Amino acid sequence: MWRISPADRLDGLTVFKHLGGRYVPAGELTFAGQDSLRPGIFKYAQSYLEIDSAGPIDPIGLPLDQRQFAGCPEVPLACLDAGPEGWGRTVLSMAFETSTLGAAELLAAGTTARTGDLAFGASAEAGPGTYYPDITLSPAISDASADLEALMTAAIAADEGSATHEQLILLVGACADVGGARPKARWRDGEGEWIAKFSTWGDKFDDPRIEAVCLDVAEAAGLPVPKRRLMTFSGKTVLLVKRFDRSEDGKPYPYLSLGTLFQEPPGSYGTSKTYADMAATAQSTGVIDAQEQMFRRLLVNAFLHNTDDHLRNHAVIDKGSGWELSPVFDVVPYLGRKRHVCAPAPEFSTDCDPQAAFTSYAAFGLTLEQAEGILDDVRTAVRHLPVLFEQREVCRADRQLLRMLETR
Ligand SMILES: Nc1ncnc2c1ncn2[C@@H]1O[C@H](COP(=O)(O)OP(=O)(O)OP(=O)(O)O)[C@@H](O)[C@H]1O
Ligand SMILES: [Mg+2]
Repeated sequence: MWRISPADRLDGLTVFKHLGGRYVPAGELTFAGQDSLRPGIFKYAQSYLEIDSAGPIDPIGLPLDQRQFAGCPEVPLACLDAGPEGWGRTVLSMAFETSTLGAAELLAAGTTARTGDLAFGASAEAGPGTYYPDITLSPAISDASADLEALMTAAIAADEGSATHEQLILLVGACADVGGARPKARWRDGEGEWIAKFSTWGDKFDDPRIEAVCLDVAEAAGLPVPKRRLMTFSGKTVLLVKRFDRSEDGKPYPYLSLGTLFQEPPGSYGTSKTYADMAATAQSTGVIDAQEQMFRRLLVNAFLHNTDDHLRNHAVIDKGSGWELSPVFDVVPYLGRKRHVCAPAPEFSTDCDPQAAFTSYAAFGLTLEQAEGILDDVRTAVRHLPVLFEQREVCRADRQLLRMLETR
């Protein structure tokens, strides 16, 4: 039974973590008060602390011990990485417009398809579950193999504020726990689990198509990049990116954003943290090639004018042999913003300038020769842009809009 207060709020959740092929209870989240934003407390379950092979949910923010951890402010940041952000919250607020949705309700509306290897449920005995504040709006839970075109049409309608009841039901099932601000949905086919990213009303260019090109460049520049595919329905492009937080047979991998590793509150977009800091923090959790990879990411983002490089657009995953940087995601030119969110290194400017970014190499422990090798890889990849634009069938108007990328 879900722990519902007289004010119709979820007062507690059991947190599960995937371990040894199944979800095991890892701890309890409890909330106090009735405000929409309620301070929460997390405590590991004694049974979890006694499992030899159990690791911490977050090696920095939630070390394995008996303490009570205060939420940040509602739940630990690691839980937020497993829950909805702008888009998922928008969908849930539209679907449950008369209900108060705090972190507990937002987390409980998701399924085990959520990002990473955490899950949430009513109790240790009940196992992972899904709770909707209004039972009259119960979707076919996690209808991840729903018709992709129907999902796109529903997402575009919700984005424009005109989704029907049926469309909201479809979206709640497919994206109640997905991160990021742009319209998207989880989707499954015979090949596995994907995230489908759709266009949004404010787009200056065919965003999903350009994101595919940017991921092509990142891959050519030597970065790990998820498999991707473009599809078109009624003239609208959908980018499918294969999920990197699931094994080929569907096993969930632990996932933490860099924002969580830095313990930066969820609302903070701007940060004083730099790419060099990200490399150092990733390295402190055991990531082996963090310095070289973060420098490479910095150059790719600078060349592609991806200035939306905030701390939740970088993450680590653990596929079973320790933390590693996740494959690259959300790489798109951000024309309206000339400054990166994260500077290359302390004392460096956030101006989006590949040359200036390059000069930060020593902060990543790299020699000039190593840095020049990386620069060469990235430059060569970026010089492929005309070919990639052709291959991905980018229209003339978008190429014209993005011509600055081809002259860098
Ligand atoms: N290939 C993938 N595999 C697993 N998880 C992914 C993948 N791509 C993205 N994600 C997760 O989904 C979230 C949202 O994706 P993404 O950052 O691409 O969306 P967005 O809406 O463009 O984000 P933003 O709000 O930063 O613009 C990411 O923060 C990450 O947690
Ligand atoms: Mg993002």
